[in-house]
Formats: sequence, structure tokens, C-alpha cells
Amino acid sequence: MSIATLLFLLLLVLLVIASVGAFIFLVSPGLTEWRLRKNGFTGPTPSFPLGNILDMCKKEKMNREPSQGPLQPSHDIHSLVFPYFARWCKSYGKVFIYWLGTEPFLYVAEPEYIKNLSSVVAAKNWGKPTVFKRDRKPMFGDGLIMVEGDNWVRHRHITTPAFSTSKLNAMISSMVESTSNMLGEWSAITSAGAREVDIERDIIRNASEIIAKASFGINNDEGKAVFEKLKAMQAALFTSNRLVGVPFSKYLHAKETLKTRRLGEEIDGLLFSIIESRNNERPSNAPQHDLLGLLIAGNQNSSRLTSRELVDECKTFFFGGHETTALALTWTLFLLALNPRWQTILREEITEAMGGGDINSNTLTKLTKMTWVMNEALRLYSPAPNVQRQVREDIRVGDNAVIPKGTNIWIDVVGMHHDRALWGDDVNEFRPERFQDSPYGGCKHRMGFLPFGFGGRVCVGRNLSMMEYKIVLSLVLQRFSLSLSPNYNHSPSIMLSLRPSNGMPLILEPL
Ligand code: HEM
Ligand SMILES: *[C@@H]1O[C@H](CO)[C@@H](O)[C@H](O)[C@H]1NC(C)=O
Ligand SMILES: *[C@@H]1O[C@H](CO)[C@@H](O)[C@H](O)[C@H]1NC(C)=O
Ligand SMILES: *[C@@H]1O[C@H](CO)[C@@H](O)[C@H](O)[C@H]1NC(C)=O
Ligand SMILES: *[C@@H]1O[C@H](CO)[C@@H](O)[C@H](O)[C@H]1NC(C)=O
Repeated sequence: MSIATLLFLLLLVLLVIASVGAFIFLVSPGLTEWRLRKNGFTGPTPSFPLGNILDMCKKEKMNREPSQGPLQPSHDIHSLVFPYFARWCKSYGKVFIYWLGTEPFLYVAEPEYIKNLSSVVAAKNWGKPTVFKRDRKPMFGDGLIMVEGDNWVRHRHITTPAFSTSKLNAMISSMVESTSNMLGEWSAITSAGAREVDIERDIIRNASEIIAKASFGINNDEGKAVFEKLKAMQAALFTSNRLVGVPFSKYLHAKETLKTRRLGEEIDGLLFSIIESRNNERPSNAPQHDLLGLLIAGNQNSSRLTSRELVDECKTFFFGGHETTALALTWTLFLLALNPRWQTILREEITEAMGGGDINSNTLTKLTKMTWVMNEALRLYSPAPNVQRQVREDIRVGDNAVIPKGTNIWIDVVGMHHDRALWGDDVNEFRPERFQDSPYGGCKHRMGFLPFGFGGRVCVGRNLSMMEYKIVLSLVLQRFSLSLSPNYNHSPSIMLSLRPSNGMPLILEPL
């Protein structure tokens, strides 16, 4: 072959690569944008290659109301945590298109529209956004949160029995034990004279212990090592502010990407060997009461989960379960610190339910007012601020509009939970009694209250989180009375979940 032919071939290859690239990153998104606009969807104009990301990163000038001093924080947080969505809603309404890089997203904050979406596509036919799957691979892998189609049906079918009430009840004493350790330390701090504790940090740490125990057990060295490495991985994942959806952006954070990948491999290896040794245990051995043990025990026939899938479920429970529950508790203690009357109401309920005994499954079911408080905290400060889907084939919603295959759907839970049109004029007030007679808190539309998602994909761990929540809150309120520290700085923000960005310092008075 002559040099000329070689050069020609090389040129040809480059040309093909360039046109494929142009198709993937320019033509295809352009085509989708054109189809969406033709179907009547509006939204901010995207640019290449960042879509609307620059607009989203823009710092807003806050004109705070004078009443928002440190001790009178406002619960009207939508425009604080999602300034761009609040702004776009004013121009384009509650359903519109925006772009994360070269990925189209349909923004939805309209409950009736979500109902229409659910009636068109069954739970198993929804996708989860491919961009997030890739970005969150180290955390969730192919666990329940991310799997799709028949695989999701199989995973859901096998995992659901592990979360049954009787299985969960067997975890109560271990949750009480972890929590008592934490409270013992808080008592030591307060009796040494200090009164201020950053409860967010301690609660997240302890919730991670509780969920690690509940998921795969940490009573041996391997379990402990997995737990330590998962915490390290979480720290590494949250140091980089990732540009999800932007082509090649992961190379901007090559160091973190590499570090999390290595940690991920180590964690997988350890979990594999835990599973291996449990598989080899004689059946006469007492079964393990953690979720992994329950999955292995129920994993009998041909549709069983593979070891790889079990590993991913362990990680999914850890990352999907601990921070969400810890934040529900953190925001609740914040709201109670601002509302001493509700501390008293709950304390009375706890005393009556326990009747001098220990916490058990019976006491937990008696804590109805605490359930209202949990719902109200999840409404005002929803730890999972959004729910996502991806359309796997063209779908027709409502009268005419077709949503093209591949479009991502981003449901703004914070937006709906703070929508005056759905909740009325007291939307931004802490009023747990709104849940007294209605599981939707009197919301005008039952799809307007979605702290745990919706449809068949609703959170599988919600009863576990409710149990943990009730145990921790009961023990805290029995021992301490709470008020907000003057050092608290109200600045809720989104780091995957909705967190207080400067921690949650509270003043604890021993009772
Ligand atoms: C207050 C605490 C929690 C909140 C706010 C929360 C929220 C959510 C949300 C919003 C979803 C997505 C639902 C959807 O896409 O429609 C979800 C799914 C899920 N959650 Fe939770 N969660 C919590 C606790 C937990 C716990 C404790 C666990 C496990 C130990 C857990 C495991 C899962 C799993 C596995 C899924 C995927 C379910 C599926 O797709 O079939 N979550 N959660
Ligand atoms: C739980 O909290 C206590 C007190 O803050 C601490 O001693 C303990 O180590 C925590 N558990 C974990 C796993 O961090
Ligand atoms: C496997 O077990 C599940 C229930 O655990 C059952 O629904 C399913 O039909 C079983 N599949 C086979 C092939 O036996
Ligand atoms: C929902 O679907 C119904 C029936 O197709 C339609 O009349 C209605 O406008 C839709 N609502 C929204 C918000 O899309
Ligand atoms: C949670 O518990 C309630 C009863 O308290 C039950 O009706 C519901 O099915 C449970 N949910 C899950 C996901 O297990």
C-alpha cells in the first residue's frame, strides 16, 4: 500500500469519526429540540455543548426579606435551591424543556401532567436517565434504583419481601443501640458545658452505620471495611461539582474519577467475598437478619439475583438509604427547634406510647402525630428534591404532544411541595396537622406530594426509613429539648440531596 492510500484511508476514518461525533453531539440534539418545539413544548434556548448549564450556574442576586434573620428562617425555599427553575417557571409554566449539555430534559412541576405520564407508561417501561446512570455508577451500579424493564421487575420482586414489616421489626434493637451511642456522646458534650452540637454531621454518620448494619452487617472485619470504604467513596464523589450531560466532562475530574473507581473495585471485592462466605454457610446456621441475608435466603430459583447484582443492591441500599433518612431527621429537628409546641406534643405522644417500657414495633405504630411531623418535614425539606425518568420510546401525553424517545423527565418535587396553588396560603408554614385527615396533607392533587416518588417505582425503603426516623426522634426528644443556635445559617442547597449547606448547629438542653 502506498503512503498516499494510507493517508487517504486515515483521512476517511477521521472524517467518519468527525461526522459520527457531529451527529451525536449536534445533529441529534438539534433534531430532538426541533421535534419538541414542533410539538408545542417551550423552554430556554440551549447552546452547544453546555445546553442551559451556564444559565443554571449563574449566581442569583438574592433580595431577602428582612424577616429572614438567622432565627426566623423562611421555609419558602424553591427559588433558593432551584433559582433557575423558579425563573423559567415564570416564563414557561410548569412543564417545559431545558438542556443539560446535549441531553434534553422535560421539566415537570404539574401533578396532573405526572398523572397523565403514569397512565401512558407502566412502571417497568420507564427508563432512568442514562446520563445519571453513568454518573452514579459507583454508587448504584445496576441496583434497584437504576435497573429497567424485566430486570427491574425481577429485582423489585426479590427485594420487596426483605422490607416486610416483620423483617424490619427484627432491626429495631440494632437501630436503638446505634442511636443510644450517639445520644450518650451528646450527653457527654452537654454535661461538659458545651450546648451546641452540629446534629447534621452526627446524624448522617450514625444513619450510615444503621443502614450499613441493616444492609450487609458490620459485625465482622469485612463488613467494617466495606463501611469505611463506602464512606470514603461518598466523600470523593462529593468533592467534584460534576457537569452531568456535558460530553467528556468526566475527564475534567480524572483524579476523582480514578479514585472512586478504585474504591469501587475494592468495595465490590469485599462484598463479593462476604456473599461468597454466606453462600457457603450451612443452612443450619442462624440466618442473618440484614437485607443481604434476606435476599440470599429468598434467592432460590432461576430468576435469582447474581452475586454481581447482590453487590449492587448492597451499595444501592447504602447510598439510597442513609443520607435521605438522616436529612429527614435533620430537617425535622430544625423545624422542631423552631416550634417548641410540637416538641411538647410529640414528647407527650412518645411517653404515652411507650408507657414506661422500651421501644418496640407496637410503640412505633402508636406514634401517629410523629407520622404527620415526618410528612410535613418531607414536604417542606424533601431530602430527595426531584424524581427522574427517561422515555424509552416515543410517547403521546395528553391530547397531542409527543415526547420523543430518549427525552429525560425531571420532576421538581421541591417546586410542587411549595406551590401555593396546590397547598393554599399556608404552604410555607410548618403545620403537621394538615396530614391529620389526609395522607396527601390536603394537597389539591394527590400527585402533588411525592417525597418517595410515585407509581410502581416508589421508594422500596420507605417503611424502613420511617422506622429509623421514629426510633431516632423518640430517643432524642426523650433526652433533650432543642432550640436553634444563633450560629445557624439558613442555606439549604442541593448536593444530590437537599442539605443544610452550613450544617445544623442546635442548642441541646438535657431534660
Ligand atoms: C426519608 C428517606 C428516603 C427518601 C426521601 C427516599 C426517596 C426516594 C425516592 C424519591 C425514590 C425514587 C422513586 C421514583 O423514582 O419514583 C426512591 C427510590 C428508592 N429508594 Fe428511597 N428514600 C428514602 C429511604 C430509603 C431507604 C432507607 C432505602 C433502603 C434501605 C431506600 C432505597 C430505595 C431504593 C432501592 C429505591 C429504588 C426503587 C425502585 O426503583 O424500584 N430508600 N427513594
Ligand atoms: C454515632 O455517633 C456517635 C456519637 O457522635 C459516635 O461515637 C459513633 O462513632 C457514631 N457512629 C458512626 C458510625 O460514626
Ligand atoms: C421464583 O420465585 C418467585 C417468588 O419468589 C416466583 O414468583 C417465580 O415465579 C419463581 N420463578 C420460577 C422460575 O420458579
Ligand atoms: C391530561 O390528559 C387529559 C386527557 O387526555 C387532558 O385533557 C389534559 O389536558 C391533560 N393534562 C395535562 C396537564 O397535561
Ligand atoms: C409499609 O407499611 C404499610 C403498613 O404500615 C404497608 O401497607 C405498605 O405496603 C408498606 N410498604 C412497603 C413498601 O413495604
